[in-house]
Amino acid sequence: MSDALSQSRQSLSAAADMAVAYLETIGERNVIASEAARAALGGFDMDMPHDLGDPTETLELLNRLGSPATTATASGRFFGLVVGGTLPAALGARVLATAWDQVVFNDATSPVGVKLEQVAAKWVLDVLGLPRQCSVGFVTGATMANFTCLAGARHALLERQGWDVQKQGLWGAPRLRIIAGEQSHVTVLKALTMLGFGTNVIEWVPCDDQGRLDASKMPQPDENTIILAQSGNVNSGASDSFAQIVAQANSAWVHVDGAFGLWAAASNSTRDQLAGFEGADSWVVDGHKWLNTPYECGLAICKHPTAVHAAMATQAPYLKVGGEAAPKDMVPEFSRSARGVEVWAALNSLGREGLADLIDRTCHHARTLADGLREQGFDILNEVVLNQVVAALPDAEGWSAKLAAHVQNSGDAWFGPTNWQGREAIRFSVSSWATSENDIRQTLNAVSDARLRLDRA
Ligand SMILES: Cc1ncc(COP(=O)(O)O)c(C=O)c1O
Repeated sequence: MSDALSQSRQSLSAAADMAVAYLETIGERNVIASEAARAALGGFDMDMPHDLGDPTETLELLNRLGSPATTATASGRFFGLVVGGTLPAALGARVLATAWDQVVFNDATSPVGVKLEQVAAKWVLDVLGLPRQCSVGFVTGATMANFTCLAGARHALLERQGWDVQKQGLWGAPRLRIIAGEQSHVTVLKALTMLGFGTNVIEWVPCDDQGRLDASKMPQPDENTIILAQSGNVNSGASDSFAQIVAQANSAWVHVDGAFGLWAAASNSTRDQLAGFEGADSWVVDGHKWLNTPYECGLAICKHPTAVHAAMATQAPYLKVGGEAAPKDMVPEFSRSARGVEVWAALNSLGREGLADLIDRTCHHARTLADGLREQGFDILNEVVLNQVVAALPDAEGWSAKLAAHVQNSGDAWFGPTNWQGREAIRFSVSSWATSENDIRQTLNAVSDARLRLDRA
């Protein structure tokens, strides 16, 4: 065996052993890093080595100092943000694809990368019930997926007015209108501003008590309008009334940010919440949220592939494009990893039933969590329609950050404070394939214990 190969073998098998040891103990370790683990990170503050080193020693240092200082998001008791863990097949696929070291420009640079993106795209469209002609671009997350879809929307709407934004830019361009629910996610707004729309131009629409855009209060859109709708409010999990929005769209471009919520379409128990969503023009969904792929994995889905292509394509004679649009021409990134491999692996290992079960199971855990919190005297502020729970204490102030910090510091679970409809609250997102009934029980115990201790303090 060559030296290079033997070093790669040692490195991979050492990393596998370390990763397995990490995952084996994740249920017992603190969900947040201890103070000691954080302090030990100082060990990285050293001068860059002068001499060529041993790869395994590098990994050993990384594991010794790094592994304890992680937030255990792979644990079943991490309920922060709206992110899951990593499914075993997706984890293994990432490792294998890293060894392949593919750059997914086009079919010439990575036949397998392109093929698996095509297959994963087809499966995603199929399992979500979206039109087959849609393009699917694999990007770093929902923020960039929003950016990609909205760049396509900007191109298409300006083209309707005879303006080629790719050539003529935005100075002097006809004005486009943006209509958005008041509870649109901050990253959609970020995508808009990156595309040269100021937030001042947004025509805001009030939302109902679950954070759904109130379509009856929507201004009249026209063909120069982008409507920003949402599937899965980041607090409540509620989805907008897409059928109503689409019916009122009047040739406007309807964009749906479904970073986690769009996966609800994959289960018969929750699909109705998205009724009419297939009538939109573009959608966003993350692999690294409810599908439980590793980060960074977002999908930009668009019913008008030529608009996205016009916004994203680069011409370079050394990168010849075949019949189908090359991946590099459908997303902002030029060089990038084979993200479709992880999506394919997650879907291949789950199957339709497994994916529906993942959605149903996590929703069931959210309901159990809500029931348990209600028994402890909390008000549940959201209708627990998906995997999200927002809970408040009646007649109490200044408690949510303390309670969340106490539980985080106890190491038992991780959830965060929020403010929902004017009330301070704690919020839970049950997005991980790894969460069990036992994790929910332990979390409820941790909350009740924290309240007792904080009351006594
Ligand atoms: C509704 C919604 N949109 C967009 C995002 C941003 O996703 P990402 O972090 O993958 O860019 C999130 C993240 O929580 C979200 O919940």
